Amino acid sequence: MLCPGKVTKAISYAASWRWNMARAAVPTPLESMMRLKAVLACTSLLAGTFIALSQPAAHAAPTRYEAETSPAVCTGTIDSNHSGYSGSGFCNGNNATGAYAQFTVNAGAAGTATLGVRFANGTTSARTADLVVNGSTVQSVSFEATGAWNTWVTKTLTVSVNSGSNTIRLNPTTSNGLPNIDYLDFEAGGTPPPPPPGGIIGWATQGGGTTGGAAGSTVTVSTFADFRTQAQAAGARTILVNGMLSGSGTVEISANKTIRGVGANSGISGTTLNIEDMSPANVIIQNMNIRGVPGNDAIQIENATHAWIDHNTLSSTIESDPDYYDGMLDITHGADYITVSWNVFRNHWKNSLVGHSDSNAGEDRGHLRVTYHHNWFDRTFERNPRVRFGETVHVFNNYYSNINHNTSSYAIASVMDAGLLVEANVFENVQQACWSASGYADSDPGRLVARNNSLTNSGPCEINGSVAAIPYGYTAENVGAVKSSVTAGAGAGKL
Ligand code: GCU
Ligand code: CA
Repeated sequence: MLCPGKVTKAISYAASWRWNMARAAVPTPLESMMRLKAVLACTSLLAGTFIALSQPAAHAAPTRYEAETSPAVCTGTIDSNHSGYSGSGFCNGNNATGAYAQFTVNAGAAGTATLGVRFANGTTSARTADLVVNGSTVQSVSFEATGAWNTWVTKTLTVSVNSGSNTIRLNPTTSNGLPNIDYLDFEAGGTPPPPPPGGIIGWATQGGGTTGGAAGSTVTVSTFADFRTQAQAAGARTILVNGMLSGSGTVEISANKTIRGVGANSGISGTTLNIEDMSPANVIIQNMNIRGVPGNDAIQIENATHAWIDHNTLSSTIESDPDYYDGMLDITHGADYITVSWNVFRNHWKNSLVGHSDSNAGEDRGHLRVTYHHNWFDRTFERNPRVRFGETVHVFNNYYSNINHNTSSYAIASVMDAGLLVEANVFENVQQACWSASGYADSDPGRLVARNNSLTNSGPCEINGSVAAIPYGYTAENVGAVKSSVTAGAGAGKL
């Protein structure tokens, strides 16, 4: 079946629900195995301290153009039946392709301008539109479901404008039409968007931070035996991996290590890199090529805190049996304070599981805090990530492509009361961007807040409830820049 966005929203939602329920009735071999794993007992962890950082200073005030005020055009009606709008109403565009809303704005000088489009979408699916500046389509914009027609959110976009008068038109690309549009905030000559972050940000910076082997000496290894010896040795060290080393079994990485590939083509295959039972583990894995391991996880973080998985290329092969490999990067048993950034994940079924079992609340609740940013998930057909209990798992500025192997493929799932913030990601050709309110497989629903995402030829990002605030400072890139910065910057060889 094609993506749900191509059929009417009511049918699409019902069909999605049916797939989901069908999966619930027959647990996969994986789900059965996960239940077995649940009986393993692990010690609980000490909670770390939150450090709240302030956000960067705001710009000068933009100019507000109300949708109901001429010369603005609304191909539809100006309504006032859903509260919370500004001015005297909002544009309820006709539910038809091409039923646009247009603003005429004035720029003091040519250059970059920042747009803030305030909208409400009380349906369960995103509505898509072309953003047309002075007659040219400059990007496609996705207005995700906001939960209710009286819940208004602002989407920030960056465009180039001429000096003087400019038309900014939102032109719906499907027969669902536009969301309701309240106003356009316009600011010309705004500071250009900041470059994407290069260093460590996110949960791995919290509760004491993650420095890997920085305090110790540096060694270079070029055989798998030497790699294992160094990785398992006590004490801080940076281990430079030179060449593609093939091994087997599990490498039990000990605390305070940085494992970093040399050049673009170094890494490890055939082995599980295990970070387990350490608080803090303080492990960094960077610039490595990593392959799926038949029957096991490629990287496993279990009952351990403080890890940064950065700029790696993790790729496998698509086998007919989804259980041929296990996880690519699984984070379980109360693991905490983890950042996963700038990785390429490619050709894998069960990519990244956070929380292994519906019955593990005791160990997992209050932990499993993970940030995923600027990763490229390409043909990774499930779990990017699938999260149980963890809050707030922060998924921002990732690029998802071709997650459409079959009708069960999906990018993100929040289940078992997990809390996810899914922010400014790009989804292209993704069967279902997010599950949350419907639960997933035999797991109960989780919570999920979505904002500023872009969906193209993709099923909806299902939202549900609210989530705890993010305690660390970060600046999400404008979603319009994400695909190019991720495809240029993610993976091994890009450090
Ligand atoms: C409802 C809602 C409108 C909205 C419309 C739509 O009718 O009340 O405000 O514009 O749905 O689906 O576009
Ligand atoms: Ca409408």
